[in-house]
Amino acid sequence: MTRTLRLNATDRDTASRAAQALSGGGLVALPTETVYGLAVDAQNEDAVKALYAAKGRPSNNPLICHVTGQSMANRYVDICETASQLMTAFWPGPLTLVLPLKHGALIAPSVQAGLSTLAVRCPDTSAMQQVISTLGRPVAAPSANKSGRLSPTSANDVLEQLGGEVDMIVDGGPTRVGIESTIVGIMDGTVTLLRPGTVTPEMIANITGQAPKAHTGKVLTAPGQLASHYAPNAPVRLNALSAEDGEVLVGFGAVTSSLTLSASGDLDEAAQKLFSILRAADSMGAKRIAVAPVPDEGIGLAINDRLRRAAAPRGAGTQ
Ligand code: TXA
Ligand code: MG
Repeated sequence: MTRTLRLNATDRDTASRAAQALSGGGLVALPTETVYGLAVDAQNEDAVKALYAAKGRPSNNPLICHVTGQSMANRYVDICETASQLMTAFWPGPLTLVLPLKHGALIAPSVQAGLSTLAVRCPDTSAMQQVISTLGRPVAAPSANKSGRLSPTSANDVLEQLGGEVDMIVDGGPTRVGIESTIVGIMDGTVTLLRPGTVTPEMIANITGQAPKAHTGKVLTAPGQLASHYAPNAPVRLNALSAEDGEVLVGFGAVTSSLTLSASGDLDEAAQKLFSILRAADSMGAKRIAVAPVPDEGIGLAINDRLRRAAAPRGAGTQ
């Protein structure tokens, strides 16, 4: 058990202290625009192994490498024309690209978990940008939660799940986007959607001229796809119009409740609040959490993806 040092993202020496902790093999929780990440030096195999252990993450679930931009990414992955277009359009921002690892690139083997591809993402917070550029190489960072639980959207969420197991946490306030990045894989110029997020299929199609393919692979290529994931403590009932006995109702739009994803039916707001509201419902001692319907379009696709996983039977596929 280590003591977790808490730093403020806006303090002058925070980035250098965080980069120093990372270069010494430490585990540092950092704010991204989506959710908090638990970062390690992506070239330090021992640190990556310690990260898997702290999260209780299965070793076959690869990590995203966070970079300062396309030129750092170019040192590690082969960037085709389509990938470059997407990076130019959406970086920095919540889009992760899974691309072939460049021959001879130096990345700790456990980051890729045996795959020949590497996921790269350029986060849109100055805290994370400064830490990576001070370190001078990518940080591998999954969401800073125990495996299978809700992703953290504040520094306190991280401390509740991983306090004592991380060396340092950089507090950048609540995250702006609230759900994890969109993940696409690109193979031979074809874009496949591996995880929906706030960069929607329409936004991707506008740039590439092709709608991303739905992921239908039998092989597990993004373990976030396991049925049960993002789970609060209480079971979840979807498409609820009112609360049944013992339930806490989470509203949206016309389905009103004191806990609502967005009273005005705004999908950006709903994404931003999703995990904190599920956590709040848990802490109210809900026997079950009933969630109002959210339209299955645009960012609603990503919200419903997370809700379906939160509602999936626990056990089979939990990680
Ligand atoms: O917004 C985000 O993406 C956050 C912040 C911290 O950046 N990170 C995040 O990481 O959500 P994580 O580890 O919780 O989810 C990453 C997902 C996993 O489902 C993993 O299986 C998938 O990305 N992934 C990573 N590398 C991959 C690869 N080479 N091929 C396919 N999927 C990959
Ligand atoms: Mg995660």
